[in-house]
Amino acid sequence: MYDTLMERRARLLGPMYKQFYQTPFAPVRGEGVWVTDHAGKRYLDAYNNVPHVGHCHPRVVEAASRQIATFNSNTRYPSELIVDYAERLAETMPDPLKVCMFVCSGTEANELAWRIAMANSGGDGALVTKSAFHGNSTIIGALDSSTLPAERLQDWVATVPAPEHRGVGDRTPKLTASAYTGQYRQAIAGLAHRGHRPAALFACPVFASDGLYSPPAGYLDEAMAEVRKTGALIISDEVQSALGRAGTDFWGFQHAGIVPDIVTMAKPMGNGLPLAVVVTSRKLVEGFLKTERYFNTFGGNQVVAAAGIAVLDVLRDEKLQENALEIGAYLRRRLALLMERDERIGDVRGTGLFVGVEMVRDRAGNAPAPETARAVIEGLLLRGVLVGITGRGRNLLKIRPPMIFSQENADQLVDTLEKTLAATPR
Ligand SMILES: Cc1ncc(COP(=O)(O)O)c(C=O)c1O
Repeated sequence: MYDTLMERRARLLGPMYKQFYQTPFAPVRGEGVWVTDHAGKRYLDAYNNVPHVGHCHPRVVEAASRQIATFNSNTRYPSELIVDYAERLAETMPDPLKVCMFVCSGTEANELAWRIAMANSGGDGALVTKSAFHGNSTIIGALDSSTLPAERLQDWVATVPAPEHRGVGDRTPKLTASAYTGQYRQAIAGLAHRGHRPAALFACPVFASDGLYSPPAGYLDEAMAEVRKTGALIISDEVQSALGRAGTDFWGFQHAGIVPDIVTMAKPMGNGLPLAVVVTSRKLVEGFLKTERYFNTFGGNQVVAAAGIAVLDVLRDEKLQENALEIGAYLRRRLALLMERDERIGDVRGTGLFVGVEMVRDRAGNAPAPETARAVIEGLLLRGVLVGITGRGRNLLKIRPPMIFSQENADQLVDTLEKTLAATPR
């Protein structure tokens, strides 16, 4: 069945659709942290943040099913559900971030955020971190510093470093806060040299695709002030960090210690349904509407709103942010013990249930080992555990499971990683 599926997929969907793994794997069913594949084999999902509160959570399934059997249209019509959902989201945000606009994907959210930033700032340049991904449209795709080589970035895009740590076990940033700010100053000057003033800084507040970094309290303040001095807005892209994943906080920007002007969110919001949101201030929306208009047919329809509310209910009732904090710390402790026994693990970092395990050639050199990372995720798949890869060097195992991940799940993950490493040639 798998071979036929892959042949049809290649023929009908074309070469854009790549395989995530080399080993045959086509999931057909999910439940909680578990995924079952085409052959009936069960896997522990330690990677997927889309099913944020667990695959097919019964409360989300029930809420969305009930609504799709009742009414589904778009936000042109007033709906209690979407207003209730906006109210619930706004309750989690600081002032003045109280207005919610609905779209269908992270790309669309960032695209709308970009237009709001352009309209309000008068700028037309963008600042992004050095290995960032914010989406796939023409404008937002141009910010893809994780794939595009520096020389292929548009002249209106400039990069700044992520707040990288010094190294193994040392969480001090590589650069002092003022040296870090200096890098922003340089990027802004580079834009000016090319005839652009920044409209926005886009940043993932846990710097996930840069390699997963948590800056110390206050570290980003000076750099953010430098951005704001130019009139640019700060956009926190919460597509990966939203809804308690960082454990310490509900939103990634709170974890990073900043208050952005615009917050964008997508992947986990609807537990698999296309629910994406831009949250900002009334003033910025009004500024945008002086010259622009926006309408999104499917954005925030009644079914996704019902799912979104159920996700927030489950997070609260099952105390999943607290779970992320506790289980994430436990997982990192166990991984750190494994690191002591295996030189190929260069670092274990992250926050809450967003964990990175850095694969290196040897601890002393700390050179990235992307081929080991690849072999490890394939080996984990064979042993029934799903993990991804991220980071500038493509050598960071990306562990970002559904938020219901338990201590027992963490044990299974680490034990399987240990077995996989033992079977992976050095
Ligand atoms: C941080 C971040 N922003 C934006 C996006 C784009 O989201 P979407 O695929 O829903 O357009 C992604 C997708 O991986 C992402 O990781």
